[in-house]
Amino acid sequence: MKKHDLIVIGAGPGGYVAAIRAAQLGLDVACIEDEEALGGTCVRVGCIPSKALLEASERYHEAGHTLADFGIKVSGVELDLPRMLERKTKVVAALTGGVAHLFKKNKITRYRGHGRIVGPGRVVVDGAQPEELEAKHVLIATGSNVAPLRGVTLDGDRVGTSTEALSYPEVPKHLVVIGAGYIGLELGSVWNRLGAKVTVLEYLERILPGMDSDIAEEAERIFTKQGIEFRLGSKVTGTRREGDKVFVSVEGQPDIECDRVLVSVGRVPNTTGLGLDTVGIELDPRGRIPIDDQFRTYVAGFYAIGDVVRGPMLAHKAEEEGVACVEHIVTGYGHVNYDAIPGVVYTHPEIASVGKTEDELKASNVPYRKGVFPYIANGRARALGAVEGRVKILAHQATDRILGVHIVGAHAGDLIAEAVAAIEFGATSEDIARTSHAHPTLAEIVKEAAFAVAGRAIHI
Ligand code: NAI
Repeated sequence: MKKHDLIVIGAGPGGYVAAIRAAQLGLDVACIEDEEALGGTCVRVGCIPSKALLEASERYHEAGHTLADFGIKVSGVELDLPRMLERKTKVVAALTGGVAHLFKKNKITRYRGHGRIVGPGRVVVDGAQPEELEAKHVLIATGSNVAPLRGVTLDGDRVGTSTEALSYPEVPKHLVVIGAGYIGLELGSVWNRLGAKVTVLEYLERILPGMDSDIAEEAERIFTKQGIEFRLGSKVTGTRREGDKVFVSVEGQPDIECDRVLVSVGRVPNTTGLGLDTVGIELDPRGRIPIDDQFRTYVAGFYAIGDVVRGPMLAHKAEEEGVACVEHIVTGYGHVNYDAIPGVVYTHPEIASVGKTEDELKASNVPYRKGVFPYIANGRARALGAVEGRVKILAHQATDRILGVHIVGAHAGDLIAEAVAAIEFGATSEDIARTSHAHPTLAEIVKEAAFAVAGRAIHI
């Protein structure tokens, strides 16, 4: 039996960041991870490789389509898909190696295998060399898995998840994406730019449920112009494979023939084989581990963070929770402000959001004022050739406190950081409007949207 102060199960962004922070705070930390590479879904087969492909496909598209508008003639543009995929693999390897390095630096003991709870403070590592560990605190950070879809059998090839869509060996002729959420839009746009016909089937009458509906509508218009076909209100009931072809059945519509299917209808918490029952941890109706505001499960000594608990399934949310959880364990303090967790879809242009949406404010009868400013009225956006999109700021009618900021447009994911900080500091729209923003930058669009809340935008 090996003894530690804290055992972290899972080395994704939640788990590995919690492990490092706990080690900084002086704990003897063990981290159990089944995969050889550290970093979890995000680093291995999620956020990072998808961003590598989004960037590469955007450059390919630019070379073939938009550079001419900048007065640059390029000929003989060719796609070298193997090279593109190889670069993505290198980016991932550098980062997973980086996490391993950080573990060494912080003297975190890494165990390879599947972590299984066998009793209070006791976890077995089921791996090549099974071991039993003991610690006062056990943190569950096992993340999530792809949500299954009735009638659709994932075959790890033609009908697959984001993992397969990060490594298709050739550009599909016709890719059908099921679900117009984060993954469907990001990977759908990668393959659209690389030349595939992309059809997105979405059950709801809108894309990106949960995002501000104005912003989602504008995004849908932009992506449609880019060539992605959206079929909203489409309920997929099954898929059927015939050789290299796949037929997708949609309620009330003829079958759709394609050569690849990406299933991206959400993710579910990963609790399989964790041994939760051995200590009496029960799941909520959605399969999540219930926790209190200090990330404690209802069984002493066990904590949980990230995708296995309530809240958005986002890497940075898991990181915040991991830090707050171990700070609580060691110092008695630790806090996450869930009103200030941004969400970003890394399409081109990007979509970013923080705080309440206009739909939420309306539904809860909160009085608000809004300021909207379009990219097209910003000098830098013109120079960049990135005129599509807008920033929308929602502030309380009486106090002017910022309640939500929603952006569709170039570099939205970076611009949102200012809004997150503003919400974190309880800023008003006037605070942003009166803050000097360098000229010419896209950040001025945020400033102008803040001015627009009071009806006094300058450049429109
Ligand atoms: P999602 O929850 O974002 O979107 C799933 C979509 O599928 C929804 O629009 C839903 O209405 C639709 N859907 C569900 N059942 C359907 C059916 N039978 N037929 C047609 N449409 C159906 O889920 P997604 O895109 O799979 O992403 C999973 C998680 O990963 C999300 O929680 C997201 O937060 C996270 N993620 C975050 C990223 C980021 O931060 N940039 C990137 C990728 C994923």
